[in-house]
Amino acid sequence: MTYLWTSQAMADAMGGRPFGQMPEGVNGISIDSRSIGPEEAFFAIKGERVDGHDFASLAVANGASLLVVSEAKLPALGRLTVPMIVVDDVLQALERLGVAARARSRARIVAVTGSVGKTTTKEMLRTVLEPSGKVHAAVASFNNHWGVPLTLARMPEDTDYGVFEIGMNHPNEIRPLVKLVRPHVAIITTIAAAHLGNFNSLEEIAAAKAEIFEGVEPGGHALLNRDNAFYDFLDKAAQAAGVDNIHAFGQHAKAEFRLAEYDGSAESSTIWTSFGGETREVFISAPGKHIAENAVAALGAVKLLGADVDAAVQALGGLAAVKGRGQRHKLKIGRGNFTLIDESYNANPASMRAAIALLAQTPAKGEGRQIAVLGDMLEMGAFSEKVHAELASPLLAAGVSHVWLAGPEMRALRDALPDSVHVEYREKTEDLAKFALTKVKANDVLMVKSSLGTGFGKIVAALLDKYPAFHETERLN
Ligand SMILES: Nc1ncnc2c1ncn2[C@@H]1O[C@H](COP(=O)(O)OP(=O)(O)OP(=O)(O)O)[C@@H](O)[C@H]1O
Ligand SMILES: [Mg+2]
Repeated sequence: MTYLWTSQAMADAMGGRPFGQMPEGVNGISIDSRSIGPEEAFFAIKGERVDGHDFASLAVANGASLLVVSEAKLPALGRLTVPMIVVDDVLQALERLGVAARARSRARIVAVTGSVGKTTTKEMLRTVLEPSGKVHAAVASFNNHWGVPLTLARMPEDTDYGVFEIGMNHPNEIRPLVKLVRPHVAIITTIAAAHLGNFNSLEEIAAAKAEIFEGVEPGGHALLNRDNAFYDFLDKAAQAAGVDNIHAFGQHAKAEFRLAEYDGSAESSTIWTSFGGETREVFISAPGKHIAENAVAALGAVKLLGADVDAAVQALGGLAAVKGRGQRHKLKIGRGNFTLIDESYNANPASMRAAIALLAQTPAKGEGRQIAVLGDMLEMGAFSEKVHAELASPLLAAGVSHVWLAGPEMRALRDALPDSVHVEYREKTEDLAKFALTKVKANDVLMVKSSLGTGFGKIVAALLDKYPAFHETERLN
């Protein structure tokens, strides 16, 4: 039996003190007492709202075989008979374990940051690297001060490719995280307005993203978006940080990993890539130009990591949309059906534009309407009114005739749209959900998008709840 970690290796890595009868090892690491499983170690992290130490007994009830707790909290845990490793600070202990995981690994490591598309690209990398070896990738958007060390600590020793997402909403956040990850390839998907709250300009955001270069391994690579306005800025920053190899992806003629042509349909994309004079036709089983751009970055990383590019291209043909990021549903209504595009995971100006383009690419049949169901983009700070109003122009350019809005910030968009567009506005998400449930018709195409915090996921859930899935074969009846 090989363990993810033996208790001994864990205690050594963390400088911790074993307490009680140690298990030989554990097969998982968790900081969530609700989802922990047997043979897993529970790290009692203190978060913003809750302290993991208060959930230690729940973690034990759910099967945790080892607890990692802080010395200061030990007296309060006296009743628990589960073995523990006692440390000075649990989060620091997790980081130390992450460092040890990285140190023992022979994996090739890729780290992804950027204003949008981190998770999409991370999941794509998981898919395209799988044919080349054993992949370990972050869960969901685990990209912050606990998500990154947790993902590292969970990396099995025999991993061939490690895929990490690194996020930030303030300066100096990426630097310590990338120094844990030590990637061979660092990707910056794009720089755009997102998590603006702590920033005064896009340049400040670009500078904060550029911290990722400071952790790139000697001989490693930076992979940058040549189509982004901050390409030159990031190129210089990568040089200044001493990154040995700097590469570009994108549509730009000078991009080394080039998206030469894009042919998108409602369900998929066919692209032509050009890498060092070699042209390939690539079929991607998920629609959207932004997905195609991420795919070119992912293929570039595959090449730079020394993995199998042809197998990666094949894998893109079986790519699934990530939950809340372009997932499509065909739902039965009366004797017909309508299409729901679930973009409810999150929103900012860049991803809103990408999703509006996706809606435009999905024609409605017959009397059906293309409907953008949009909610507030949060964390836009002083730019909020402007960036909401500015969505009018991509909506008009896309020819979207129906726009259903909710949320205080979306007032600015309501006011910016001309009379030629059918606009519905509700203050509250729940009221828009009720409206959508009753007003959707056969052949409509609805695209639902908003920041996560607005609860727009409930609109998707309500539609999925009320209208059953439509199966293509029903068309024959
Ligand atoms: N290259 C891109 N350009 C614009 N939009 C994109 C791009 N890639 C993905 N998106 C869209 O942006 C939204 C967020 O995608 P994703 O979750 O991958 O981003 P993220 O950077 O991981 O976000 P977070 O900061 O919340 O972790 C989704 O709607 C997705 O479809
Ligand atoms: Mg993410």
